[in-house]
Amino acid sequence: MERGNTMDERLDAVVWQGDVEGQLLLVDQRRLPQVWERIACPSLASVVEAIASLTVRGAPAIGVAAGYGVVVGMRELRGLEHEAALQQTVEALAGSRPTARNLFEVLERMRSRAEELAGQPRQAVLARLLEHARAIHAEDRARCEAIGEHGWRLVPAGGAVLTHCHAGALATGGIGTALGVLHRARREAVAFAVYAGETRPLLQGARLTAWELQETGADVTLVCDTMTAALMAAGRVDMVLVGADRIARNGDTANKIGTLGLAVMAHHFGIPFYVAAPSSTFDLKLADGRGIPIEERDAAEVRGVRGTPTAPDGVKVWNPAFDVTPARLIRGIITQFGVIESPCEASVAAMLGARQ
Ligand code: MRU
Repeated sequence: MERGNTMDERLDAVVWQGDVEGQLLLVDQRRLPQVWERIACPSLASVVEAIASLTVRGAPAIGVAAGYGVVVGMRELRGLEHEAALQQTVEALAGSRPTARNLFEVLERMRSRAEELAGQPRQAVLARLLEHARAIHAEDRARCEAIGEHGWRLVPAGGAVLTHCHAGALATGGIGTALGVLHRARREAVAFAVYAGETRPLLQGARLTAWELQETGADVTLVCDTMTAALMAAGRVDMVLVGADRIARNGDTANKIGTLGLAVMAHHFGIPFYVAAPSSTFDLKLADGRGIPIEERDAAEVRGVRGTPTAPDGVKVWNPAFDVTPARLIRGIITQFGVIESPCEASVAAMLGARQ
């Protein structure tokens, strides 16, 4: 891993190698930071499993992987009619995780491209679908860059940023959303510290954010989620910056469980709370956050840490993977088009409406 401002290919979460007969490779994010390895997803079931198990995770990266997943599915189901193969593929991928809007946005785009190609030989369909998935991947990369461009001046020079979960390169097709802003600020020679909350139950902050920031040479300090109020009370946080999984049209934002608590605390302490997300994370059909489907995951994730039990066998568990932060607690949403200040239905529409 190169240090300094340069990203290296170990942060490329999703890679398609070769032509339509090639393979989808994913960095196995479950094993980081102790083990870095890419695994191949040769079948539709393996792509679905990779998304469901968080081998690939983070809303934009899930979307990028699903784009290639459509190619994998349509290739595997060559024996079926075009429409049946498409239906089966999209349905399987859509069932992998419910909250990240990017998954469904990409599936809708892949489906409509596939529908235009109906009637063509399957090999030609596969080639066009692979082009489309690659274009979606490249778009996500460009969106991350643009989010960094619009957001880096908000990073408090000489101050500290608290982030939660992981919204970096590994979570996207590019340099990341929230961490993309921070990576870009470092490229612009802004000096600042970052606090990464560890993000129980699956520790994306400890395992991925701390790793990505440390490996890229940033000044990162890891804290347990339980320490964040004290950190703010001590005056050690100047900005809270997180990613998003789905944003309703009034700006209510679903992100990793624990984000809502940080937003409430930031409000209490008068600390600006920002979200960074591409337009593909917005779900403009939803009036507000009450309509966002929240994934509930296996109790084992809370009863233990990485396979080691830490609680009584069989104890009752509640394990929602995400929570919803009301727009009124959000100072701004940094998108690829610019910053939506004080998000509400009107300001979201003004930024995204004509461009969607
Ligand atoms: O369950 P995960 O790890 O997929 O949750 C990820 C998050 O909550 C991220 O903050 C969000 O997807 C933004 S990624 C740029």
